[in-house]
Amino acid sequence: MKRLGVNIDHVATVRNARGEFHPDPLFAAKFAKKSGADSITIHLREDRRHIKDLDAKKICSQKNILVNLEISTNDNIVKSALKIKPNFICIVPENRKEVTTEGGLNLVRNKLKLKKIISRFKKKKIRTSLFINPSVNDIKIAKKLEVDCIEIHTGHFANLVKSKKNYSNELKRIKKSSILAKKLGLEVHAGHGLDYKTTRLLTKIREIEEFNIGHFIIGESIFYGLNKVIKNFKKIIKSR
Ligand code: PXP
Repeated sequence: MKRLGVNIDHVATVRNARGEFHPDPLFAAKFAKKSGADSITIHLREDRRHIKDLDAKKICSQKNILVNLEISTNDNIVKSALKIKPNFICIVPENRKEVTTEGGLNLVRNKLKLKKIISRFKKKKIRTSLFINPSVNDIKIAKKLEVDCIEIHTGHFANLVKSKKNYSNELKRIKKSSILAKKLGLEVHAGHGLDYKTTRLLTKIREIEEFNIGHFIIGESIFYGLNKVIKNFKKIIKSR
């Protein structure tokens, strides 16, 4: 059964626009869980532009919510994450000037650093994932790094679909990477830029076990409500 992780970073973005307390990411996490989210994803960025340390602490202390904490390889962030003790970790690249995570990790350049970070989380029995591009070479490196899961960056695919360009090669790349990862014993996740249509297309890939979706869910909820939007995604994900 495929799972839905709901990324609630942009609840914090709206809250921070006023610098006050509403809307509350902890309330959003509980509400999303009640609406059917299998897990909650939050990204503790180095610049703390949306989720803050206190949000992460409060959300991760909820016993009945599985939390996937996205972090960069920054030493201080890794230390904070080890203290916060989420259920899952997803290591992502981070660039201060980006609007959002623009691509997968550079595994070749960061091999040694990643290996050390992965082993620290694995020692604490925290499921660890690497956010990577759909590349066969990266999947092979991820396997060598002894990570539990890979999350495939679907941003390029989503942009092609949304701009009505030919996406078949990119879809093939995602499928090929997913099949290889699963064969090597890595759990396969997918995320970034996904909406109803792109998620529906990706559900055809049997190997993908988890989708992590944020911006579209929060944006669409303005019109239809978080409960309804999560239920719509659950239906799409279950339909295969
Ligand atoms: N997965 C990862 C690893 C991410 O970094 C993000 C964005 O924070 C997402 C999924 C969700 O992307 P989006 O907000 O575009 O749905």
